[in-house]
Amino acid sequence: MPSATPDSSSPRIVLGVSGGIAAYKSVELLRLLKDAGYFVSPVLTPDATRFVGAVTFSALASEPARTSLYGDPSTPIPHTYLGQNADLIVVAPATAHLIARYAHGLGDDLLLATLLATRAPVLLCPAMHTEMWEQPSVQENLATLRRRGVLVLEPDVGALAGGDVGSGRLPEPAAIFEFVERIVQGYRGALTGRKVLITAGGTREAIDPVRVISNRSSGRQGYALAETAYRMGADVTLISTVNLPLALDVVRGVKVVKVQSAHEMHEEVMSRTSESDVVIMAAAVADFTLKASKEKLKKDQGPPALDFEATVDIVTDLVAKRSTGQLIVGFAAETENVHANAREKLRRKGVDLLVVNDVSAPSVGFEHATNEVTLFDRFDNEQTISLRSKESISYEILDRVVSLLSQGAS
Ligand code: C5P
Repeated sequence: MPSATPDSSSPRIVLGVSGGIAAYKSVELLRLLKDAGYFVSPVLTPDATRFVGAVTFSALASEPARTSLYGDPSTPIPHTYLGQNADLIVVAPATAHLIARYAHGLGDDLLLATLLATRAPVLLCPAMHTEMWEQPSVQENLATLRRRGVLVLEPDVGALAGGDVGSGRLPEPAAIFEFVERIVQGYRGALTGRKVLITAGGTREAIDPVRVISNRSSGRQGYALAETAYRMGADVTLISTVNLPLALDVVRGVKVVKVQSAHEMHEEVMSRTSESDVVIMAAAVADFTLKASKEKLKKDQGPPALDFEATVDIVTDLVAKRSTGQLIVGFAAETENVHANAREKLRRKGVDLLVVNDVSAPSVGFEHATNEVTLFDRFDNEQTISLRSKESISYEILDRVVSLLSQGAS
């Protein structure tokens, strides 16, 4: 938490408010942020001012609320002033219209222009009626924004305007505040000074120059971990089999090394392990590879007899060569006896933390934007993180990494 009286070093938060009935709750959020010592600059869309008065925000904030790109002689270019100076932009509530405009890069009012003019992390807190929240267009726009690194706090289920009940309710200001604190604290760096090596994606084992054997891992959880670790201050290297976009604010900070096969991944990981404080094996590494044919196999020669051989288990090799104090995190995708298998694997592999997902459950694991995992650590702690975005899961995993690091070497 920053010091209670904001000064020039206080984290600066742009509090964006768009035009939904939940806008009244952002007054309370503003108070919580201001009381905690953040420098808060409110920006209201023109529609937001139909629900709440800019005067209310001006009275409570660190500087007067802004509602327009034009007409403020003290800040002639307000969107770049706000965007460039922000440590975080929070939009609460974020309406379907705001989300659509942001996803499409429109900058037709001050809040949207500020969102385009920033490299700071952005947290959207959507709020709308259930029918709107469930619209594929809304969900696709959010998925686009998430892919670009925008953080989204999922709405609650509860009472909505007009007496309806359903999902789409803005979370309570205290819950949004807590999330903001975590982002800002992470942003300030619980992992500052730590070198974190992360693997992502499914490996691809060549059959011939054209064909590969791979798996359904999308790499999204590994990318989310890399972005979050960077935002938490780590020096991050990502060894990946896939090309996913990294969020703008981390794109220059995360070193990406592309590999294809389990063998290449093994080489790249092992050449960097001695300098890494944390290694997170989020990749789905093939257990078997095969000798690739130099020429493309001909269809008329019939089904090929593929000769498989086991790959090196990278985690096992990492654990064998572990440097003092180094923390190693493994992943396990399970479809049955999840808990028993996880405990056995944690021990067998000798990792400090095993992140387990039951990939047979809906919306979990491979190819999904969401995940539900259980963390098993070397002290026999077990914690299930319920279904949420892969970004939120990353914060939970890295929080545990930070706490295990503070407990010393294994
Ligand atoms: O034993 P299992 O394959 O389920 O373990 C999964 C974990 O082991 C993952 O963290 C994965 O990245 C890692 N692994 C590895 N090398 C392999 C196979 C899996 O490091 N050859």
